[in-house]
Amino acid sequence: MPAAGEIKQLTDEIIKLKQERNAIILSHVYQRPEVQEAADFVGDSLELSRKAAGTDADVIVFCGVHFMAESAFILSPQKIVLLPDEYAGCPMADMVTAEALRAKKAEVPEAVVVCYVNTSAEVKAQCDVACTSANAVKVVASLPKDRPIIFVPDQNLGAYVVSQTGREMIMWEGFCNTHHRLAADEVVAVKKSHPGALLLVHPECQPEVVAMADHVASTTGMLRYAGENSAMEYIVATEMGILHQFSKRYPHKMFYPASNKLVCPNMKATTLDKVLTALQTLEPRVTVPEEIRERALKCLERMLAVQ
Ligand code: 13P
Ligand code: SF4
Repeated sequence: MPAAGEIKQLTDEIIKLKQERNAIILSHVYQRPEVQEAADFVGDSLELSRKAAGTDADVIVFCGVHFMAESAFILSPQKIVLLPDEYAGCPMADMVTAEALRAKKAEVPEAVVVCYVNTSAEVKAQCDVACTSANAVKVVASLPKDRPIIFVPDQNLGAYVVSQTGREMIMWEGFCNTHHRLAADEVVAVKKSHPGALLLVHPECQPEVVAMADHVASTTGMLRYAGENSAMEYIVATEMGILHQFSKRYPHKMFYPASNKLVCPNMKATTLDKVLTALQTLEPRVTVPEEIRERALKCLERMLAVQ
């Protein structure tokens, strides 16, 4: 982390340039604390998609990973969408390709295809509806009962959705490297150290970990829960960047990571100096070819229409 003076100087320059460019800075809650602080809006994947769809800024600086910036461009193609680190990708999104999905669809042509938003635009263009961890249960519950469902790419989120909806799904075998490696015995050990704490679990974790949770939710769902609940201590089973928001919003409560391994290197690739360079150069830009964008847009719009 840069020194406090350097953070202030970079943040001041970013704010000045952001105004000149009529830019908005969107940050996922897994970003570095100083990046979250420089942002206009910090949220989960669903909230960030909604913000990208609704903003009247000319430039969107997306502090997150590639699929998020792509979604912003799909929803707002007239805007310049910048991803400050062009290599910030999502390994789980890379676990399903459009080609492999086409082959699976050919095996079950009558299936409705649901994709986690953590997918490329090319994959979204092959799917009927997207979902995020915040609305996956609602999206699947809204689908016709007489059609099979193919769910890509997160097998853990898929298993959670099956447990909540009772719908069977043909599951892709993808996973998030960061959440999937959290083992149930690590969580047992942390629970022993903090016996009074409630356990908050992201559905990208393995089912054994999800089964131990006091509350399963997307990142925003976890933040909301800790604000509404009277408990004073929480163990948090998701990427550690969220701890910044927990302690900022609820400074009188205690939050413990379920493991120190809960760090997504891609989410940490964005730094303040890369945000500043992106605003100075208006690069690196993320775009999507128009014929893919049009089809991926339908997939995202169907998700956004589910209340
Ligand atoms: P949410 O903030 O939507 O829960 O996202 C989780 C995630 O892993 C994004 O990459
Ligand atoms: Fe992808 Fe997991 Fe990182 Fe999110 S936390 S960007 S799902 S690898």
